[in-house]
Amino acid sequence: MSQRDADVLVLGSGIAGLSFALDAARGGRVIVATKRDLTEANTRYAQGGISAVLSPDDSFDDHVRDTLVAGAGLCKEHVVRLCVEEGPAVVARLVHWGVEFDRDRSGQYDMGREGGHSHRRVLHAGDITGAEIERALVEAVRAHPDIEILEHHHAIDLITASKHLRQGGSNRVLGAYAFDVRGDDVVTLRAPSVVLATGGAGKVYKYTTNPDVATGDGVAMAYRAGARVANLEFFQFHPTCLFHAKANSFLISEALRGEGGELRLPDGTPFMRHYHELGSLAPRDIVARAIDNELKKSGKPHVVLDMTHLAPDFLAERFPTIHRRCLELGIDMRTEPIPVVPAAHYMCGGVQTDVDGRTCVEGLYAVGEVACTGLHGANRLASNSLLEGAVFGARAARAIAAQPGGATLPDLPAWDPGNARTPDEGVVIAQNWNEIRRFMWNYVGIVRSERRLARARRRIDLLREEIHEYYWDYRVTSDLLELRNLALLAELIVRSAQRRKESRGLHYTTDYPERHDRRFGTDTVMEGLG
Ligand code: SIN
Repeated sequence: MSQRDADVLVLGSGIAGLSFALDAARGGRVIVATKRDLTEANTRYAQGGISAVLSPDDSFDDHVRDTLVAGAGLCKEHVVRLCVEEGPAVVARLVHWGVEFDRDRSGQYDMGREGGHSHRRVLHAGDITGAEIERALVEAVRAHPDIEILEHHHAIDLITASKHLRQGGSNRVLGAYAFDVRGDDVVTLRAPSVVLATGGAGKVYKYTTNPDVATGDGVAMAYRAGARVANLEFFQFHPTCLFHAKANSFLISEALRGEGGELRLPDGTPFMRHYHELGSLAPRDIVARAIDNELKKSGKPHVVLDMTHLAPDFLAERFPTIHRRCLELGIDMRTEPIPVVPAAHYMCGGVQTDVDGRTCVEGLYAVGEVACTGLHGANRLASNSLLEGAVFGARAARAIAAQPGGATLPDLPAWDPGNARTPDEGVVIAQNWNEIRRFMWNYVGIVRSERRLARARRRIDLLREEIHEYYWDYRVTSDLLELRNLALLAELIVRSAQRRKESRGLHYTTDYPERHDRRFGTDTVMEGLG
């Protein structure tokens, strides 16, 4: 068991964590710990792009308004405004680190369009924007002499003064224990500032666009360490995930609908105009619910996204990755519609922070999808998430740089494995994992009801007890750590959803189909355990 020290410890390696690390390394030594390869983060899979006001016919006011409309009354307007206004500067910073966004023939950025945006304002790199951003940031981080990278280090828990040193007074973070997967050891990472940049939790649902890493680790660790979490009932479902047995988490970007793609029933009938005047480009929550309703009515397994009325060359050039992946699976989007279904996509709630990423635990910050800053409210506007990660990564770096340095950190207790045995019942993990994801999809998905939530709550209470026992009896493994976090996330989502007795944004319940601003026009906040 070893210990490593740094001025700042970053957990996670998407746009928020890596851009933060590059800024923070100007003022001290940074450790970036990530549970898989450095490149493996939700960011890498973002297709659409990053929203920013960069063209003369667009305005900050319009971007703010679009974000507030999507957020259904729960966005914090000052947070939205500062995020939107800092957009152009963070885009310039990404370009400085080597990100190449597409430009048109005149050298101007080629701006894409997505649902809910009143202008074309989505910078993109073909249809692999996230991969391009991740590539550039990973290269810059790897080349930086003051950033130490710990890949395959899975954070287990945050170390806090109140829990691990049994100190009274205000709670403060001192580092984290991390499981070194390859060394099969637990290391102590000590730092006066810890930044959670662990991304989302799409794996809590059976169908998701998210990669396997999205297991809600940051929210779960922060909650156990005493941080407040908020708005976890607002989980965004992306309307168009590819429906195919061999590629069930492949995203079909909203940018396709931005370019005129039409949603139809499998027999070719368009249906979105029955639900919203914007048709297939209506806000995401409305499109996802409409598809869910059509699937339930018809009993069909999918609807289709039709692009065949657009020029074949344009489609292949604008969406090269989606086109290639579909072709590999035998679907030619130039000549036939693409089968699609909704899938869990983005966690709008998270660890509650101020405008600099600060949580209520001293020294603990959260940036990117793991955080609840007030930007998204009850529903996220497309392509605002990469923007949020970059803006709040930069703000947290400035806030930490402005803190007085020089404090000595106390000695930390080494990880205590107790009498834990080597796990011999992998089946328990697989069983519980599948069970959680299935009931979350069926009972806590796009359309909810009091009875469904109560059913989910009974199941999660039972499973959490079982997982808790298993956790203390057996040595840690990555699977066990992820299951423990995922189960806590499921519980927090269900509890948040049970508190909100109205329908708003991404939370829709058949028992309370109306929005009630007077009673429920605020965040759903839960105090951490601490
Ligand atoms: C997409 O490309 O449809 C995803 C963009 C986003 O979720 O912001």
